[in-house]
Amino acid sequence: MASQKDLRVRSVFKPGLFAGKVAVVTGGGTGIGLAITKELLSLGCKVVIASRKKDRLQAAADQLAACIPPGSTAQVKAIPCNIRKEDEVKNLMSSVVSEFGRLDFLVNNGGGQFQSPVSALSLKGWNAVVDTNLNGTFLCLREAYNAWMSENGGAVVNIVLLISKGRPGIAHSAAARAGIDNLSKSLAVEWAENGIRVNCVAPGSIYNVTAAENYKAIGDVFAHAIPLTPAKRNGTTEEVSAAVTFLLSPAAAFITGETIKVDGGWDLFQVSWPIPEHDKMPAYDWEKIIEEEDKLKSKL
Ligand code: ADE
Repeated sequence: MASQKDLRVRSVFKPGLFAGKVAVVTGGGTGIGLAITKELLSLGCKVVIASRKKDRLQAAADQLAACIPPGSTAQVKAIPCNIRKEDEVKNLMSSVVSEFGRLDFLVNNGGGQFQSPVSALSLKGWNAVVDTNLNGTFLCLREAYNAWMSENGGAVVNIVLLISKGRPGIAHSAAARAGIDNLSKSLAVEWAENGIRVNCVAPGSIYNVTAAENYKAIGDVFAHAIPLTPAKRNGTTEEVSAAVTFLLSPAAAFITGETIKVDGGWDLFQVSWPIPEHDKMPAYDWEKIIEEEDKLKSKL
């Protein structure tokens, strides 16, 4: 990216749409978060990217900064933050307001999970995933509210998961994201009077290099996703970013407490867990129960 002269973004949204606006994007230096950061920057937004991995985060910010065209209102800054740590999240939001004078948008994209059936999950593993995804999002929401949005309004998009059918294999993360989905609905109502909209985007299988790296040990999850997706392909990070940008934009001024799926139809169609042949689920059948009772009686 460093050798590029521009951000390599061709957003369908109009240039300058977010001039003068300030956003925080957690996990904004990689994968889906990076696409969101690039699109917001391309629309003139000032973007603070935040994540735990300081060096990787600063390198991403440096590369992005080098790609901002001259004369743009856009700016990018890296602020390291472990979203699990209350003091670090407080520092993130208050630093943004003191440096940039405002905080219009929050994109809660930082988080993650590892594959494991629930039976093999340790409490430590469960807690780590819930802490990062659910508690981290809660802290970011509350501190963005405290630092700026309570008085000045704003728009929030939480990146979640498709959860309508559960998510066997990543149940800990799905439980946390279901919590975020529900929290967003509560906040859409609690914070309407503050002029804050809170929405979610639930991506399906979205190909990106970071995710491919993270998942390579468990096989080609992106090839596996294609037959499960009515669109018969993986999604792009741009397709998620477009939904996020829309929800942050004035075009979504009357949308709050909503979750947009960006999944090529996966959620309506998915078969997500192989189930071996078994006979472990006996039917509730009165005739059979009576037969069993009669058998027992005849033995007495
Ligand atoms: N991305 C994954 N885990 C994170 C964390 N604890 N803080 C910030 N970004 C993260």
